[in-house]
Amino acid sequence: MSFDLLVKNANLPDGRTGVDIACRDGLIEAVEPGISADAGNIIDAGGKLVSPPFVDSHFHMDATLSLGLPRMNQSGTLLEGIALWGEFKEILTVEAVVERALKYCDLAVSQGLLAIRTHVDVCDDRLTGVEGLLEVREKVKPYIDLQLVAFPQDGLYRSPNAERNLLKALDMGVDIVGGIPHFERTMEDGARSVARLCEVAAERGLMVDMHCDETDDPMSRHIETLAFETQRLGLQGRVAGSHLTSMHSMDNYYVSKLLPLIAEADIHAIANPLINITLQGRHDTYPKRRGQTRVPEMRSYGINVAFGHDCVMDPWYSMGSGDMLEVASMGLHVAQMTSRDAIRYCYECVTSHPAKALGLEGYGVEEGCRADFVLLQARDTIEAIRLKATRLAVVKAGKVIATTPARQSQLELNGRPGSIDPADYAPNEG
Ligand code: FE2
Repeated sequence: MSFDLLVKNANLPDGRTGVDIACRDGLIEAVEPGISADAGNIIDAGGKLVSPPFVDSHFHMDATLSLGLPRMNQSGTLLEGIALWGEFKEILTVEAVVERALKYCDLAVSQGLLAIRTHVDVCDDRLTGVEGLLEVREKVKPYIDLQLVAFPQDGLYRSPNAERNLLKALDMGVDIVGGIPHFERTMEDGARSVARLCEVAAERGLMVDMHCDETDDPMSRHIETLAFETQRLGLQGRVAGSHLTSMHSMDNYYVSKLLPLIAEADIHAIANPLINITLQGRHDTYPKRRGQTRVPEMRSYGINVAFGHDCVMDPWYSMGSGDMLEVASMGLHVAQMTSRDAIRYCYECVTSHPAKALGLEGYGVEEGCRADFVLLQARDTIEAIRLKATRLAVVKAGKVIATTPARQSQLELNGRPGSIDPADYAPNEG
């Protein structure tokens, strides 16, 4: 029996060690120890981690890599970022959107990031971002699952043509209905926008992913309306609430009522640790609030929580490198999720949890799944986050599509080793 690809001696995220992975025709045919068969390509994982690909459940690809255009965000604040984006989208071209997005996708592939849900602004009457990203979705199809969310960034009712443009974007082939209820002019308009957008999704059989309550105002409670509308319209499992940062500042009693409602509605919660730790709490003196929703508490209610990157080198965030391990690391730090079990959970927040939110089919390193995975320079998921481990090989449909040399440093120290591998620093066995 001959396979296209055979990976030997791999560790898996669930703790299995020393397994082999056999792939043929783009699918995983076997995951078990000691597979002896011919293969067109054999990779020795050497006891390192083979993980399903990273998944980014929340991104803005229409703005990525635009840092410095048309000028730099000098204050680094959300408000200056919004003003800058307003200036920039006047001069956007489809060609420029496509070029920057494809460049970002190259980076994503090198980081083992093979599925991305991106919001795309529909408040520009020309729908430049929509046109550009629809083209990109087709171009990257062989290597990245790209989902597009129609995002009325300036408000469904606050921006004059947003509703018309959103419907047009969906007609053009955008996959998901977005929203931004906390940015509408009044709480009532916010609630009305949630209801309207969920109805649009129900009529068209689409998923929903809203920027929801991305504010420090504890009275911003649009997630409650989103949970209600999800139940009313039978959208359970198809709706995501992104950011949800107001929950950080809400009263504990109210949150104890809210979390079961989110769980009942089977809403996916998407936190964006990197961007919200920098943007939230800006009106505080000291102590300053953390800009993250209540991840451990949502976990305890069985809510599916994912972490998104949100931004890379754009008007809102000048940092980032498409590294979902950096996102997981920030998420666990901000949420103080430092038990061994909680760190493993944070790894799932950038892999299997967002895969569930996106509804990805055939995801996982299991028999019958798509032969998509990443070999990391780390033995397990905790070490992968700690080291922001090098992606030694990225495999798509059974073919290696990116490689990076292992990180190794040479030392010139008398009486000390000549070289070190960061993955050789393991916890002491107790
Ligand atoms: Fe966002």
